Amino acid sequence: MRVRKWVLAGILFGAGSFSGCKSEVSGPDTGSGPIDSAKTYTYEADVRPIINGNCVSCHGTTSPSGGRSLTTYSQVSAASSKISDRINRNPGDGLLMPNGGPKLSATDLETFSKWVTQGKKEK
Ligand code: HEC
Repeated sequence: MRVRKWVLAGILFGAGSFSGCKSEVSGPDTGSGPIDSAKTYTYEADVRPIINGNCVSCHGTTSPSGGRSLTTYSQVSAASSKISDRINRNPGDGLLMPNGGPKLSATDLETFSKWVTQGKKEK
């Protein structure tokens, strides 16, 4: 009994000091959280905000650039390999999207790629 109490106290103390430490080292808010390998990525929660924030200004519903509208799950899902190709190009490559740059953040690129490899879940 006595031993179990100490183990519990140790766990609580450990958790407390971990969260305290985490808030101290967290950097500027980039808008999207760090990559969590155990997480399931979805269009609604993870991919749509990236596309809305970086792509729909040109790829909206009315005369979209390149004839490519990216405003719905089915459009983004169907175009995922073209999107992967364009967002992963090097700056200076005229085909990089967003057109004219800057390149998406490493977190956004990894989020998109994880979403594809996890089977492009809608929600
Ligand atoms: C400033 C306007 C602009 C922004 C922002 C933009 N694009 Fe584009 N996009 C274009 C133009 C113009 C074309 C057509 C020329 C070309 O293919 O490079 C195009 C073409 C494309 C194509 C090829 C179309 C096809 O059907 O083959 C894809 C895929 C694409 N964009 C994806 C994206 C994604 C994903 C984003 C956001 C990360 C994005 N674009 C942001 C202007 C833009």
